[in-house]
Amino acid sequence: MDSTELNKIMAAFLTAGIVFGLGGVLGGKLIHSERPEHPAFAILSALPEGVSAGPREVPIAALLAHADPARGQSDAAKLCGACHSFNKGGAALVGPNLYNVVMAPVAEGAGYDFSSGLKAKHGKWSFDDMSAWLRDPKGYAPGTKMAFAGINNDRQRADVIDYLRTLSDSPQPLPPVPKEAPGASAPAAAGAPAAPAGPSFAEAVGHSDAKLGEAAAQRYCGACHSFDQGGASMVGPNLYNVVDKAIAVQPGYSFSAALTAKHAAWTYENLDAWLTDPRGFAPGTKMGFAGIPSEKQRATVVAYLRSLSPNPHPIPGSGAGGADKPGQGAARQSPGGTPPK
Ligand code: HEC
Ligand code: HEC
Repeated sequence: MDSTELNKIMAAFLTAGIVFGLGGVLGGKLIHSERPEHPAFAILSALPEGVSAGPREVPIAALLAHADPARGQSDAAKLCGACHSFNKGGAALVGPNLYNVVMAPVAEGAGYDFSSGLKAKHGKWSFDDMSAWLRDPKGYAPGTKMAFAGINNDRQRADVIDYLRTLSDSPQPLPPVPKEAPGASAPAAAGAPAAPAGPSFAEAVGHSDAKLGEAAAQRYCGACHSFDQGGASMVGPNLYNVVDKAIAVQPGYSFSAALTAKHAAWTYENLDAWLTDPRGFAPGTKMGFAGIPSEKQRATVVAYLRSLSPNPHPIPGSGAGGADKPGQGAARQSPGGTPPK
């Protein structure tokens, strides 16, 4: 190899280095800056159509499906609590009271003097509008007097919005998740690490002794719940055959709005979350029970609940429950014909 050849190779490396370096700078701009400066816009305008210019938009409906209002409550206390009260009839502070704000008309809350910037918006606080507003208040309503930078983190924003949703005598239902949500995979990916935890609680239930669970349930829950078929509602609803049943639908019992708003079933995972921390699972629930910290004990209690049925719900992954796995897969794939992955 003579020196000209070596020079060529060096030059090639240098060029590559410059290109990569530049790519890094530009890429960094595109990805990290919410409001790219003009040069970045020039580059973006050259992108093929359909490539979004801003940070990738994940529909709020898809994010809300995985949101946690309990996390939202503590984030809201930290991020918004200096300026907003959240309780029903709470006072306006720097900003208006936020009880029942979801789907309410924008900037019409009584007893608060809104800026003309926000009043100019007219519409309602739909989930989409709330998300746009909380991502970038000044971008959404130029001239607003809400001096808050916004919540960039999708998950955190969704948690806070889900919390706002619960602040109501009859919370709005969650918006339907768009089928082809471009971001549908993002929350799924975020939820992925949690997925193995689900079956593991169900497995713990499968390995637990329902007889021990009966004793624990009498002690922990017996003051408020009956367990026998057709048993009366007491402070809480009767719990016969509750596993896999829809949440808060038992006839003859008046559930709180917080629990009614759940629109889900008492899966093993949901029972686990509920019995760990009832108020965390359903903020505003009227079940005055602190929760059972020990997973083992929760699994024992749920094993007992599971046994209260003519046809106990299968344990996924166990020999007996294996049959429902292909079933789930078929249900997911058949009607839509969605290709796998
Ligand atoms: C520094 C004070 C401050 C902080 C922090 C703040 N806000 Fe605000 N907020 C305001 C002010 C002031 C307004 C009235 C804005 C206007 O009239 O332009 C407002 C208005 C609102 C509105 C519109 C209410 C309506 O009835 O139309 C919502 C919703 C809202 N804020 C939510 C939040 C949330 C959620 C957070 C936390 C993530 C937050 N705000 C953080 C001061 C604040
Ligand atoms: C102090 C009384 C009290 C205790 C103790 C209590 N609960 Fe509850 N439970 C309630 C009330 C009240 C509700 C209705 C909650 C609502 O509507 O928000 C409820 C609701 C439930 C539901 C929802 C039922 C449905 O049909 O959706 C389940 C499941 C449940 N409790 C399980 C338990 C278990 C298991 C224990 C013991 C580990 C327990 N509870 C301890 C009062 C209690």
